[in-house]
Formats: sequence, C-alpha cells, structure tokens
Amino acid sequence: MQIPVARPAIGQDEISAVTAVLESGKLAAGQNVAEFEKLFADYCSTTHAIAMNNGTAALHAALLAGDIGHGDEVIVPAFSFIATATAVSMTGAKPVFVDVNEQTFNIDPQKAEACVTPKTKAIIGVHLFGQPFDVQGIQHICDSRNLTLIEDAAQAHGAMWNGEKTGGFGRFGCFSFYATKNMTTGEGGMVTTSEKVSAERLRLLINHGQSEKYLHTRIGYNYRMTDIAAAIGIIQLKKLEKFNNRRRKNAEYYNTHINVKGLLTPFVSPGMHHVYHQYVIRLTDEFPMKRADFIEYLKAKGIGTAIHYPLPIHHQPVYAVANEPDSCPISTSLASSVLSIPVHPLLDQKELAYICDVINQVK
Ligand SMILES: Cc1ncc(COP(=O)(O)O)c(C=O)c1O
Repeated sequence: MQIPVARPAIGQDEISAVTAVLESGKLAAGQNVAEFEKLFADYCSTTHAIAMNNGTAALHAALLAGDIGHGDEVIVPAFSFIATATAVSMTGAKPVFVDVNEQTFNIDPQKAEACVTPKTKAIIGVHLFGQPFDVQGIQHICDSRNLTLIEDAAQAHGAMWNGEKTGGFGRFGCFSFYATKNMTTGEGGMVTTSEKVSAERLRLLINHGQSEKYLHTRIGYNYRMTDIAAAIGIIQLKKLEKFNNRRRKNAEYYNTHINVKGLLTPFVSPGMHHVYHQYVIRLTDEFPMKRADFIEYLKAKGIGTAIHYPLPIHHQPVYAVANEPDSCPISTSLASSVLSIPVHPLLDQKELAYICDVINQVK
C-alpha cells in the first residue's frame, strides 16, 4: 500500500471544463475568471474577490494595496510557510516575527501586541493547517492600534471562526490554490476584500498598473489568473464543502483511533471550524521513537508524511540573525517535533484504519 501525504482530487468535470476553455481559444483572463471571482466572494461573504496566479502574489498585492512598503514593519508568525514573510520583504517592508500558541500553532495575540512599534503597519494572521487563528484577539490589536489586518488563508478555504468564513475578517484575505490545497487550480490565488477602492487598486496592481488599455499609472505586475485555472477553480469550489467534510471526518477518525504515548493529536480551540489542510501531530519526549526514525518506519509501511515546517521562518538562512537569543522558542520547538500524516479527501476507510494500526504499533 502506498498512501501519499497529499493528493489533488481532480475529476472528469475539471478535465471537461479545461478542455472547453482550450477549445474556446480564449485562454487568458476572461469569463471564467470573472465567474470564479464572483462565486468566491459570495462564498467568503465579501464584496470583492480578485483572482491571481498564486497565493504569494495574493499576499504581495494585498500588502501593496494596503500601502505597505519601505520603512514599515509587518508582524507575521514565525511558524508558517515562508511566503507569509517573503511577501512582506518583497514590498520593502520588514517582517517582524512573533511566536505562536503552543497548542493551536497559531499567532499569539499577546505576543503580537508586544511586537507593535510606531513603524508597525499591519499584522498577517495565518490560519495555519486549516484552523482559524484567534481572530478576535488579533482584530482587537489591529483596531486599537490602527493596523491593517491581513488574513493568510492559503490553507483555510471554508474554515470558520464563530460560524463565519475566513477571508472576511481582515481588510484583505489571501488564498492559495496550489495543487495540494483544500481546493486547487494547479497554481492560483485570490484576494478577498470588502473595500471597493482596495479592489480597484488590486486590479491595477495585478495587471501592469494599467488603468486603460496601454495606459500605465503605477508600477504593476502580471499576477493574473488564466481562464484555464479559473475553470478548474469554479468546479473545485462547488466540491469544497464535500472535500472539507471528508478531511474533517478523516481527522475525527484519527482523533479517536490514534493512541500512542507521547503523540499529541491536533488541538482545536472552541468556536473554530477546522478544515484540516494538514493533520499535524506532535511528538513529545515520551514518544518511543525519534521523529526521523518514525518517518522512516511509516515510509517502509507505505505511508507518506511531511514536516510542516522543519525550520521556523526566523531561522531560515534568508532571515536568521547570528547569535540572537531565540525570540520565538515555541516555533523552534514545533519545527523539531511536528509531523503531518495523510488527511486528504481521497483516503478511504481501509487506508485510515491501516494508518492508525501502523501508528498504534509503535512501542
Ligand atoms: C500559509 C501559506 N501562505 C502562503 C502560501 C503561498 O501560496 P502559493 O504557493 O500559492 O504561492 C502558502 C502556500 O503554500 C501557504 O501555505
């Protein structure tokens, strides 16, 4: 048995939709992009959604639309995918790394507040692994300090806090549709916002700063989504609830069937609707195996795993400052103790039971 840690769920309907676009001859941004944007904005209960070519572009464009640049600081969690921070650096602003909550792995509002300086312009909260961050706590800091809240929802399509979907809490919500995400367009991204002016700025930014045909009023980028990708996105969005329910059921099965000393299953805060982009376990000192040996053991049994993430961002060579005392020790400790096991919607009952059996045999 070979069980990959992640697998895109693509059906005949996505294939037919792509074929139809290819046959139409209109491959770049067009009617499918417009329809996907409308459907996605409705899904997130925002007024606008602007489709892009990936999630990093979405973060970069949102930061620029929020007027963030040289001389500014943006608070970001140290435990996330690198793009959360590099998007800030791409604007010329400085990412300021904040530690995460040890249980949820998400940005810690108290620590974030302690990082605010007169230069702080924004906080990027990441809904990591599919669980919303403490929206209320971070929103409160942003409101009281006049900071822009940006949601990095790259891993959290359809996740909810207090019954409301991610993407609608911040001034901007940024999504990725990379191949292994909860829904995919191959590569793709989206920014949600309810500000008309920001939506107009975003459209300018992602299309060469072009305000009229061949009239360019600011430096812009080519961050547009293709109609091919959007056609896939429209179908995937229709399936998202089904995919997320499968992920949640798979996670529930693990929660109730995995039982090994020293292995912590994911903690879910009250009021959070977790959509399990990843099912991330944590191995404590009591776990009978070293993480590297456990990975090898699972691999030998045909079970794929991944480490999200083996280095916290503040220790990545591109950001690390030599001899600094560790400012984000929880992120550092998580990086050496977490492991993602398969939770994707294509897993069947037999595979789930097998994975639990193999894990429970660890002594
Ligand atoms: C938390 C987070 N932010 C940003 C990104 C960037 O998205 P993309 O890979 O589509 O550029 C990702 C994707 O991997 C992510 O997981």
